Amino acid sequence: TVLVVDYGAQYAQLIARRVREARVYSEVVPHSLTAAEILERRPSAVILSGGPASVYADGAPSVEEELFAAGVPVLGICYGFQAMAHALGGEVARTGDREYGKTEVRSTNAPHSLLSGTDTTQTTWMSHSDSVQAAPAGFEVLASSDGAPVAAFADADRRLYGVQWHPEVRHSPQGQKVLENFLYDGAGLTPEWTTGNIVEEQVAAIREQVGDARAICGLSGGVDSAVAAALVQRAIGEQLTCVFIDHGLLREGEAEQVERDFVAATGAKLHVADGRERFLTALEGVSDPEQKRRIIGREFIRAFEDAEAAVLSAAHAEGAKVEFLVQGTLYPDVVESGGGEGAANIKSHHNVGGLPEDMVFQLVEPLRALFKDEVRAVGAELGLPAEIVQRQPFPGPGLGIRIIGEITEDRLEVLRRADAIAREELTASGLDQDVWQMPVVLLADVRSVGVQGDERTYGHPIVLRPVSSEDAMTADWSRLPHDLLSRISNRITNEVSEVNRVTLDVTSKPPGTIEWE
Ligand code: XMP
Repeated sequence: TVLVVDYGAQYAQLIARRVREARVYSEVVPHSLTAAEILERRPSAVILSGGPASVYADGAPSVEEELFAAGVPVLGICYGFQAMAHALGGEVARTGDREYGKTEVRSTNAPHSLLSGTDTTQTTWMSHSDSVQAAPAGFEVLASSDGAPVAAFADADRRLYGVQWHPEVRHSPQGQKVLENFLYDGAGLTPEWTTGNIVEEQVAAIREQVGDARAICGLSGGVDSAVAAALVQRAIGEQLTCVFIDHGLLREGEAEQVERDFVAATGAKLHVADGRERFLTALEGVSDPEQKRRIIGREFIRAFEDAEAAVLSAAHAEGAKVEFLVQGTLYPDVVESGGGEGAANIKSHHNVGGLPEDMVFQLVEPLRALFKDEVRAVGAELGLPAEIVQRQPFPGPGLGIRIIGEITEDRLEVLRRADAIAREELTASGLDQDVWQMPVVLLADVRSVGVQGDERTYGHPIVLRPVSSEDAMTADWSRLPHDLLSRISNRITNEVSEVNRVTLDVTSKPPGTIEWE
């Protein structure tokens, strides 16, 4: 395992992803670990990430020299590079030569193995105000830039390396090559982390964890829960029951798709709970977004409890217990919540709407170590169809938070039809993979005047909200081709008589969120 020590910037996860793209397994650890604790984990290499601090600032995280003396290959990046220089006796100074953004870096020597295969002058992405003025003894300076006399260094004997720039971001076009040089040449690692291996490892781990107990998995219709369920199904077969709660806030064809495609691909036992009536009744008269979410979450818990009882009774195991709950928790969630290890008892989960605290399961989280793109690859490896594996994200509360105003069956039907048209046209244009997701929103409490066939109409506007994003934390509105937008608009206003206006949301996130509620 390559350990990426997180110095508090947003880059550590990205570094781990890039290392895995190089087919080497990697995990993020907090900088609060001591060098001894890091070494105890027997990493095959260590990467020190960037971070916002100056090595001279009070309380700045430092690196103990011990880490560099253990014979473990280390790569320092940005702050990690400076911390390494500082710890080993190099000179780091604040010179006022701040570099931010695109920066040219020149290799100083005959290309060294860390920079081999990259251009003598390469574009990199920098973000620093301190810079390394002199490399520590034993290090060779590999590159410099206008603001950084030492922009990269290496001590090949001790297998210690560092770069001032961020090789993990796409704005450093040759960055991946630098990372691979470190991993393959510097650290002598071989690229062998593949989705096939992930599946094998996880299947073995799940069998070991669950033994012959019973497990239950809530399917949300999304990628993560489907892949988690398919993995667990592969591991323990009949001991798993999947539960799908149809809350009536789904898009056209969605419930059928889960029933048909998921079961066909995995052979899993599926219990579908029809909660349409119960959710609609509970939501009657409610238009406040937060209240909607709370009600949907609460009803979800109840429906799930009923489903658990139904599952046991169907297995003629009344009074028995389901011991394990499968969840599609991903690595970014794990890192963001402090990177804690081990499966605690469940409290809540955004995919299943927050399960009750007295419902005590042990968790099975086979995707805990994976990034989204890896989850998709594992899903494909397990034979899940592209319709499931490549799905765009869809919120747990479903169309409930895409009807602005009270939710009624009639309004849901209008939105379902408009949404189906928008999705169909987006798919037909081949642009599915270019947008992160495209919520379609019904402004149910707004009416606007229109004219159709000489007749005045008084209908509702639909909002298209196509966005591009890497992780949903930030997003930009997608520049979809005008002819596609025009086809969607024409078809919706022609085919959905309640809608007489289609509008496009051109707000980034922030300040807007992706969903309207
Ligand atoms: P926002 O609207 O906050 O959405 O920009 C960010 C991402 O999260 C999805 N989303 C949800 N997903 N349960 C979910 O499972 C929810 O309650 C929920 N609310 C928003 C949204 O679709 C987007 O991908």
